[in-house]
Amino acid sequence: MSAALVSLDAVSKRFALRLSLGDRIAARLGAGVENRAVRAVEAVSLEIARGETLGLVGESGCGKSTLGRIAVGILAPDAGEALIDGQRVMEGGPRPVKRTTRIQTVFQDPFASLDPRMKIGDIVAEGPIAHGFVTPAAAPAYVAEWLARVGLEPDHAARYPHQFSGGQRQRVAIARALAMRPDVLVCDEPVASLDVSIQAQIVNLFLDLKRELGLTMLFISHDLGVVRHLSERIAIMYLGRVVELGSTAEVLARPHHPYTKALLDSVPKLVRAGSGRAAFKPIAGEIPSPLDPPAGCHFHPRCPHAFARCRAERPNLAIIGAGRHSACLREEHAT
Ligand SMILES: Nc1ncnc2c1ncn2[C@@H]1O[C@H](COP(=O)(O)OP(=O)(O)O)[C@@H](O)[C@H]1O
Ligand SMILES: [Mg+2]
Repeated sequence: MSAALVSLDAVSKRFALRLSLGDRIAARLGAGVENRAVRAVEAVSLEIARGETLGLVGESGCGKSTLGRIAVGILAPDAGEALIDGQRVMEGGPRPVKRTTRIQTVFQDPFASLDPRMKIGDIVAEGPIAHGFVTPAAAPAYVAEWLARVGLEPDHAARYPHQFSGGQRQRVAIARALAMRPDVLVCDEPVASLDVSIQAQIVNLFLDLKRELGLTMLFISHDLGVVRHLSERIAIMYLGRVVELGSTAEVLARPHHPYTKALLDSVPKLVRAGSGRAAFKPIAGEIPSPLDPPAGCHFHPRCPHAFARCRAERPNLAIIGAGRHSACLREEHAT
């Protein structure tokens, strides 16, 4: 029995590729394109302890959102399972599927996620009333309490989403999620669409809420700078796989995987704070297509340390120290 509140156990997800006409013709001719699929997530296992925030970081397209959607039960994995407290996040099935309410989400785009025809008060109260967490009579006070918690005013309940800024809308989305009294909050790029100054305010709000409510979070971001302030641990993802995992301080101070190092080097302020104008070093090469990821270690074509085995063998996410994991075949840990 594990003490983890959230566990992802070897989850994988592929998406069938919508074929172009040219591809369909090629398939008819036996070119084998019909089997092509995007390998969004490949056998990822992660655990989150109660009260912990796990940051999930990686470049766009590496599978973070897919993994997040599996963790909440919005998306069924092809293999493996997503559990909360040892129970599946999706019950029944294949359908109708009942999703747990114990995990709630905050998404990137607060403009798309709030119904423009509903007042803020109804947006926040809808779920808790539907699930019997609060009676309609008690809902106004309940809503006011949650609005206050996220830094909004009670009279904001009577307004519509368009009357708010992006940052305020994201506060509404957070209030709506928390009003469901979830055990876990999955946040997928919740500040990515906001101005930098507003980003800091929302990150600070998450920090306050974490302290006050003991939140457990999966916090997804392509931006290490956002995640580092919130997360006790970080998982680094590359092309569908977790390549490094460990405490935030350790991973940032002593990155082990060449991809993590490259990622840190591409964010100069983060690693060399105070050293003035550090050189910005973008990661060499391009992200390969998840349709046709390189064999062996997916990172090997961009890796300065790659050797023969890296081109053929999939590295396991192996223990490299206390609470630290890295999926790299190098014996010598160049640090
Ligand atoms: N519904 C979908 N249908 C087809 N491909 C998808 C779908 N969702 C995601 N993908 C593909 O899966 C890969 C991972 O996407 P995603 O999980 O959104 O990555 P990230 O959130 O890290 O940017 C990408 O190549 C993306 O194009
Ligand atoms: Mg995403």
